[in-house]
Amino acid sequence: MYNVRGVRKWSVGVNSSAPASRSTQTRILPVEVSRIGKFHFTGTDQSFLEDWDIELDKAAPSAAYLSTAAENLRNSDVPVAFPTETVYGLGADATRSSAVLGIYKAKQRPADNPLIVHVCSLAQLRSLLRPQNRLIATSLEHLKLSGTDSDPIPQIYHTLIRKFWPGPLTILLPNPESSALASEVTAGLPTFGARMPASLLGLALIKLANVPIAAPSANASTKPSPTTAEHVLHDLNGRIDLILDGGPCNIGVESTVVDGLSSPPLILRPGGVSIDQLRECPGWEDVQLGYKDASEQGMAPKAPGMKYKHYSPKAKVVLVEPSAGERSSEEAIWSYSTRSRVKSIGILRTKHWKSVVPEKVSTRRSDQKPATGAVNVITNPSIKLLRSIQPTFTQDTSATQLEVRFSFQRKLEIWDIGLGQDPEDIARSLFAGLRELDLRNVDIIFVEGIHDGDRDATAAIMNRLRKAAEVEITT
Ligand code: TXA
Ligand code: MG
Repeated sequence: MYNVRGVRKWSVGVNSSAPASRSTQTRILPVEVSRIGKFHFTGTDQSFLEDWDIELDKAAPSAAYLSTAAENLRNSDVPVAFPTETVYGLGADATRSSAVLGIYKAKQRPADNPLIVHVCSLAQLRSLLRPQNRLIATSLEHLKLSGTDSDPIPQIYHTLIRKFWPGPLTILLPNPESSALASEVTAGLPTFGARMPASLLGLALIKLANVPIAAPSANASTKPSPTTAEHVLHDLNGRIDLILDGGPCNIGVESTVVDGLSSPPLILRPGGVSIDQLRECPGWEDVQLGYKDASEQGMAPKAPGMKYKHYSPKAKVVLVEPSAGERSSEEAIWSYSTRSRVKSIGILRTKHWKSVVPEKVSTRRSDQKPATGAVNVITNPSIKLLRSIQPTFTQDTSATQLEVRFSFQRKLEIWDIGLGQDPEDIARSLFAGLRELDLRNVDIIFVEGIHDGDRDATAAIMNRLRKAAEVEITT
């Protein structure tokens, strides 16, 4: 039992198979995956790819919450939010149209943006690839990429699956004509995206529901993806019944989406598996980027989600590309802030920017009196108008606030968040940082970009930031 921001207390078993009319309260159910029971592997591989099962510990509340969520997935048309290793997903039974439509409704997602199907074993995936109708199966066999009757998974994906599943990789597969998937999952496309999440909680949920789960990220459409249960609650409170809370997501950016059915194969969205990791796999040495960051004009979107506004907080986001240099970015921030009469700005730092908060202040306990008077933390000599920087409040560990007064009595509030220096840390805290600044109602967010690279999460980070940003400073 867990109450968050006035969320109603709730008992397992009460109203668990959600009827068509649902409560307006959203319940967060904490699940400790180490307490749900025992995982049994029966296949030769002893891995999640082959046969496995779960024996629930009937006495554990975590197991009861998981069972309730699985039951809702089977019987209700209201989607269930659950954590994966990338971001929280909003799941529904991928074989039932009414359930899948519930996702689009809760998220207010455009109907032509297809969903990823989450599976818990290769057997489950294979059953989705085998046409129900044998005549169609025979006619598909001449297609090079349709796999074989014994293994309908196209050959091009075999190494990728062995290497990266369960994990943050989504592969495009041919959707058989008489598909078991609801047509709303694919938004009318001849392919569907599939992934096996690495999150044990996610895997256990799919296994217990015993159906493939369609799940986009569990944010309201256009908002940054959620990496905690509280983020989901913020966006979807009253729109869904249950959020399984498995703590913060470990990766923090979504899965890499690849299309191995086209030649050469394409990366449709950079994500948790890096471009270099893909290139190391046979058949993927020449993988091309099928997405374009800065401008999508002139390119028909291959992944339908690419054409929509994405990852956007309320505030305007200004992405400062690393080529701008440290000095000019500081100047740009200040000239923008003094010129445009904004009242409150947010700063998301990565590798090089220094905190605008003096160390003395950032380590000050919140019960101590704030320091006053002029504090020379901003070195830019062009800021003559600045009279004093008055730290008024140090918040929790993540965001620190400063209040800056100019000589003509104008006040400027600054919220400063360090996302970390390593790409993995930045990826993990990126969406939470954007969301936190939105909660502080800042007018504008300046983000310190990082150099694009193929080795790690940098391509995914810069891709998400370029989509969130309306303005970029590149010189
Ligand atoms: O990490 C993730 O992938 C998360 C977690 C919840 O698994 N899910 C996620 O889903 O990010 P969503 O819906 O926010 O993004 C799915 C992306 C979209 O850009 C969509 O257009 C693309 O995958 N996609 C899905 N099916 C597709 C298809 N058949 N062809 C092309 N693109 C597809
Ligand atoms: Mg999404």
